[in-house]
Amino acid sequence: MLRFGVLGYGYWGPNIVRNLRALDGCQVVGVCDQSPAARKRVEAAHLGVPTYSDYRDLVASPDVDAIAVITPVWTHYELTKAALENGKHVFVEKPFTSKAAQAQELINLAEQKNLLIMVDHTFLFTGAVRKIQKLVNDGTLGKLYYYDSTRVNLGLFQHDCNVIWDLAPHDLSIMNHILDREPEAISATGQAHLNSHEDIAFITAYFPDNVIAHINVNWMSPVKVRTTLIGGEKKMLVWNDLEADEKLKIYDKGVEVKSQEGVYNLLVSYRSGDMWAPQVEQVEALRLELTYFIDCIRNCQKPSNDGVAGLRVVQMLEAATESLRQRGTLVYL
Ligand SMILES: NC(=O)c1ccc[n+]([C@@H]2O[C@H](COP(=O)([O-])OP(=O)(O)OC[C@H]3O[C@@H](n4cnc5c(N)ncnc54)[C@H](O)[C@@H]3O)[C@@H](O)[C@H]2O)c1
Repeated sequence: MLRFGVLGYGYWGPNIVRNLRALDGCQVVGVCDQSPAARKRVEAAHLGVPTYSDYRDLVASPDVDAIAVITPVWTHYELTKAALENGKHVFVEKPFTSKAAQAQELINLAEQKNLLIMVDHTFLFTGAVRKIQKLVNDGTLGKLYYYDSTRVNLGLFQHDCNVIWDLAPHDLSIMNHILDREPEAISATGQAHLNSHEDIAFITAYFPDNVIAHINVNWMSPVKVRTTLIGGEKKMLVWNDLEADEKLKIYDKGVEVKSQEGVYNLLVSYRSGDMWAPQVEQVEALRLELTYFIDCIRNCQKPSNDGVAGLRVVQMLEAATESLRQRGTLVYL
């Protein structure tokens, strides 16, 4: 039985506690939140689960094997470090840390202590992303050209970070996973309207082999949009995450250059074939992800969304923020 302590019971923490409590082979032995109101909510929802006001008491407990860090990003480094120093495996929220140097330090510490870090990049475990991954890996889309995502809505404004740090970690982790190559450079533009934190931003990431990615994140959109286009040589894909059914649509559309001469004269033909919507598995991503975390601990196996994957996202967030300050200058990674 793997015994979990959960730190943070705000918006996202309840999802972690609920999923952990529903899984076989694990147990939640304590939840810590510095807010008395949050601790009251734990007590009401999870009768008999002890609550803590100071995280140090929970991370030091000999009755805990793993710690879930579900607090704001600026606390991740301190809480994760304390958990690792006390010999606990760590499941930590995205983004992993506020600085790349902190993430690297935590990765080194976990390695020294032979402990696992998993960064909660929840989207990687959704039916849609797993299906996209399969379509890329089995060659259905062909050589990839671009990844273009729009993740916009009205609010929820964060007081401690800009829209890039809030919304882009999802897209950065998804595209790193799907494109399976390291980005070379990033450029970002954006603007703050209400306080010092940018509420709208456009990020461009350059990958090897002419693959380009673009992410549009915005807290000031009148409508919620969660749409990603992935263009390949053979097929093009549209992922609308707000669709209940048919989240993915694959288009047999593309451009074909008939001859070598055609390249110069633009003698191209457009392919416009069928569209189909593949089946997407409907399972709660967090449940799958936490099951994977438990399996990784049991089998001493490094997760694909480990500290290194989390660090790559933080490096990209830092590069995007640096570029944003310089109004879009290209920042090499
Ligand atoms: N994976 C996802 O899809 C997803 C979704 C939402 C949020 N998140 C991430 O989850 C994390 C938490 O976000 P949230 O929206 O739940 O924030 P939140 O502000 O709603 O909740 C954070 C909670 O942590 C508590 N807390 C803060 N510092 C603490 C400390 N030192 N000790 C104990 N408790 C402490 C606060 O009292 C609060 O109740 C963030 O990193 C966020 O990016 C991830």
